[in-house]
Amino acid sequence: MALSRFLTQLALASSALAVPLWVRDNNTSPGIKWGSCDFESANLGPIECGTLAVPLDYTDAASGEKLTLSLIKSPARSNGTTSKSILFNFGGPGYEAIHTLNSAADLLHLGLGKTLTFSCFDNATERALAMGKYPIEPVDSYENALADTYANMQALTNVCNEHNKGSENPKFLGTAFVARDLMSVVDALGEDGLLRFWGLSYGSLLGATVAAMFPSRMDRVVLDGVVNAPNYYHRFGIDVDQLLSADAAFRSILSQCIEAGPAKCALASINSTAADLEATLLGAAAKYGKLPIAAGSTVINSRLVKELLFIVIKYPGDVANAAVHISNLVTGTNLTEVAAYYNKLSGDIATGNDDAFYGIKCGDTIPRAESLNDVLPDAERMMETSELFGPGIASIVTQCASWPWAAKELYGGPFKGIRTRTPVLLFGNTYDPVTPLASAKNMSAAFEGSVAVEQHGFGHATISQLSNCTMQVMQAYWADGTLPAEGTVCEPNTPLFR
Ligand SMILES: *[C@@H]1O[C@H](CO)[C@@H](O)[C@H](O)[C@H]1NC(C)=O
Ligand SMILES: *[C@@H]1O[C@H](CO)[C@@H](O)[C@H](O)[C@H]1NC(C)=O
Ligand SMILES: *[C@@H]1O[C@H](CO)[C@@H](O)[C@H](O)[C@H]1NC(C)=O
Ligand SMILES: *[C@@H]1O[C@H](CO)[C@@H](O)[C@H](O)[C@H]1NC(C)=O
Ligand SMILES: *[C@@H]1O[C@H](CO)[C@@H](O)[C@H](O)[C@H]1NC(C)=O
Ligand SMILES: *[C@@H]1O[C@H](CO)[C@@H](O)[C@H](O)[C@H]1NC(C)=O
Ligand SMILES: *[C@@H]1O[C@H](CO)[C@@H](O)[C@H](O)[C@H]1NC(C)=O
Repeated sequence: MALSRFLTQLALASSALAVPLWVRDNNTSPGIKWGSCDFESANLGPIECGTLAVPLDYTDAASGEKLTLSLIKSPARSNGTTSKSILFNFGGPGYEAIHTLNSAADLLHLGLGKTLTFSCFDNATERALAMGKYPIEPVDSYENALADTYANMQALTNVCNEHNKGSENPKFLGTAFVARDLMSVVDALGEDGLLRFWGLSYGSLLGATVAAMFPSRMDRVVLDGVVNAPNYYHRFGIDVDQLLSADAAFRSILSQCIEAGPAKCALASINSTAADLEATLLGAAAKYGKLPIAAGSTVINSRLVKELLFIVIKYPGDVANAAVHISNLVTGTNLTEVAAYYNKLSGDIATGNDDAFYGIKCGDTIPRAESLNDVLPDAERMMETSELFGPGIASIVTQCASWPWAAKELYGGPFKGIRTRTPVLLFGNTYDPVTPLASAKNMSAAFEGSVAVEQHGFGHATISQLSNCTMQVMQAYWADGTLPAEGTVCEPNTPLFR
């Protein structure tokens, strides 16, 4: 089900947000009108599409105004022990889903459609112009870059405010309302009134929120690629702890590369230790920073090099090819192909409507800044936690600093001592550069009886690498709520370079 109160897209800089969500069931769902879908899907197999009217404003029972959610359902394939629905939210829309969950790919292109849209501009041209005019500058790009970005984001916020003048819509965006939408779907399904939810990335934040708001109605909740909810609601910059494992991820990938050798990882022919290789790659970034090079229509500069490295550690599925291109960056060969590779990867993780990011994330952010000083501690936190990538990403703390709207309902916690009907199951990868294992452990501490499983591998969320162990843990939980032992560590099936 493509849930439509919101949709978000986070640029490379950001961690996690997004949207699509669908129902998997074999149920006739009395409150929901199911029919055929008006789009083709090779990947999804048999699907049905449906709509459900939900309150536009849950805080105003009298208004009676409705919002139409678009739902997609996919019948349960096996003879699973449950015939009840599972609601999914796979974060995205992005590369992770497109490349690892084929079945999710088509959903990601549905968009907001006819429901509640949010935009800051008249059209895509205007949006592109504004993105050029009000850039987010890496903190380390020049001396005043963070202050510039702060002012740019204020101006952009003013543009957005002007565009939405008189509209109430921005206030109806927010995770608490989406959590209520989930429960409206549960009610409409007419099953047992309990939620079975599986959320990745931003979906984990949604899952933590719905579980905290409706603990007694949680039958199964799986959170993977976990966002620290207190940080998300109470600080600037999505999750100030998001980069906790980013440097370790990068360094560990380099070690694995050296270990795998040049036949499996092209970068291993450049240097013979991970530390030397790191110095070479950072040196290359610095070199293109001093002397950028135009490769076709793309400028290769230090920002591009760092972004490429970051995309690869976040989505390591194509790491062997990436290593070839990164080697070419080091030697300065085949740069046109490197640029094309970079453009392909960054195109895959981008989506059309960036504004929705503001709509939901900024509406959910509780504090507001009066000046640059108010966001500095959060920028510093990100730079401290990742010396390699923090400076490139920390400027996002300015994005919501002076947002003019607040979500009509905000659920900011407390995220502690929450006793769900069935305990929550969480997953975190050892080397996830945007949703660290530490955040899975932090959120596990909030939910009584929950267990955080470590997948000892790379990339954003456990879907980055296949692990039979993770799948077994998952299956046992869905089947009868069985939780693994505290401290369970799952190995991926194969090494990263093979
Ligand atoms: C659900 O429906 C599909 C197709 O209609 C069928 O193949 C499948 O066996 C059903 N699953 C359950 C759990 O009843
Ligand atoms: C169907 O369920 C039975 C009993 O739970 C199980 O042994 C069998 O492997 C299942 N088949 C499939 C295709 O999942
Ligand atoms: C986009 O919006 C601007 C400002 O309203 C307008 O001038 C322009 O014609 C629009 N362009 C397209 C392609 O619709
Ligand atoms: C690592 O490789 C780079 C590029 O070939 C080279 O300049 C550098 O000297 C190497 N480092 C060591 C310690 O060999
Ligand atoms: C450059 O690209 C061409 C065409 O893909 C390839 O044949 C060649 O080996 C590449 N050179 C290097 C140094 O990777
Ligand atoms: C979880 O993270 C929040 C926000 O950083 C922090 O306040 C809280 O103490 C952490 N909880 C645990 C159990 O570490
Ligand atoms: C994972 O499970 C598949 C299917 O059961 C099996 O073929 C494969 O050998 C398993 N891999 C590992 C590493 O256990």
